[in-house]
Amino acid sequence: MTHARTHVAAMAPYALADLGGAGGRTAPSLAQNESFRPPCPGAFEAVAAAMADAALYPDRDWTELRAMIATRHDVDPDTILCGSGSLELIGCLARAFAGPHRAVLASEHAYPYFRSAAQASEARFDTAPETDGTTSADALLEAVRPDTGCVFLANPGNPTGTRIPAGEIRRLRSNLRADILLVIDEAYGEFADHLDVPVFDMTATGKTVILRTFSKAYGLAGCRVGWGAFPVEIAVEVRKVLNPNNVSSVSQAAARAALQDIAYMRETCALVAARRDQAAGTLAALGIRCLPSFTNFLLLDLETQERARSADARLRSGGAILRMQGAAGLPHCLRMTIGPERQLDNAISLLERWTRESMP
Ligand SMILES: Cc1ncc(COP(=O)(O)O)c(C=O)c1O
Repeated sequence: MTHARTHVAAMAPYALADLGGAGGRTAPSLAQNESFRPPCPGAFEAVAAAMADAALYPDRDWTELRAMIATRHDVDPDTILCGSGSLELIGCLARAFAGPHRAVLASEHAYPYFRSAAQASEARFDTAPETDGTTSADALLEAVRPDTGCVFLANPGNPTGTRIPAGEIRRLRSNLRADILLVIDEAYGEFADHLDVPVFDMTATGKTVILRTFSKAYGLAGCRVGWGAFPVEIAVEVRKVLNPNNVSSVSQAAARAALQDIAYMRETCALVAARRDQAAGTLAALGIRCLPSFTNFLLLDLETQERARSADARLRSGGAILRMQGAAGLPHCLRMTIGPERQLDNAISLLERWTRESMP
């Protein structure tokens, strides 16, 4: 009988959203922070054209895509690695830099995949407290231990949706021990880019990696393209544990097309912000508090786990699929993606009815 390694056998599988049906799914949900818009029109043509070369392996160096990312974000193309989604890069960073004597530190309500990546690397997973769903440089610094190897910080955060300013990220880096790898996951960065100066230059200041993805603001979650800016010596190590042909040529073509239509992406971000802020206002009027969000989702505070479960059941019975947040230590919360208008309206009217029905 073959056994998995002990730390793998002890792990729970990573829990993706419960989408209600068995196996695949046919309709968008409000549970996975996907874009409510299709990819930009140019991506459709680019993908069709890329099929001509589908018999060949993709460009393993993502050459054109890296060059375009570098131009767009004013970073050196040699510092960029692409991944099959940023999930692959998170997993490979943990594989290369975390382990039995190199614990991972994240904030209390961090993106749950950080824990999973730490566990898969046999690393202890430590957390630092948040205040009102917001992480802080000081709390993370206080939680550092002698064997801390990596700090993972999503900014803006998921599932909280909150963010800390770039100045705080820089302060965190300058007060962290030089041997600790700092990973800033900016999966939702495009939704907040107008608010602050970029931090990509931090790759030059030591062991700091900045991750981004095409899955959110660019609407390419199904294509699985993420990227990061890495110090070159970190990139060399991560590359050893990446799938060497990780991003399909079709997906690279879609991502390149998305970068050629920044106006479309910006329009998506503006539409998301308008819908999100309106939804937060409507929910507040119903007595449901949301954390301030800088992303394409809202975190709804239902006050108790029982009420969150009851709201979730009511929503599901009316065809609205949101996501419970027990995995992030927020069992009293539901996360709602700013999804297609009809679905969002349906979810809000179901919550309105639920609020009325659940009044004492
Ligand atoms: C904070 C955060 N990081 C990373 C990811 C993974 O994104 P990708 O689709 O690029 O793998 C997500 C996806 O929801 C996320 O919320």
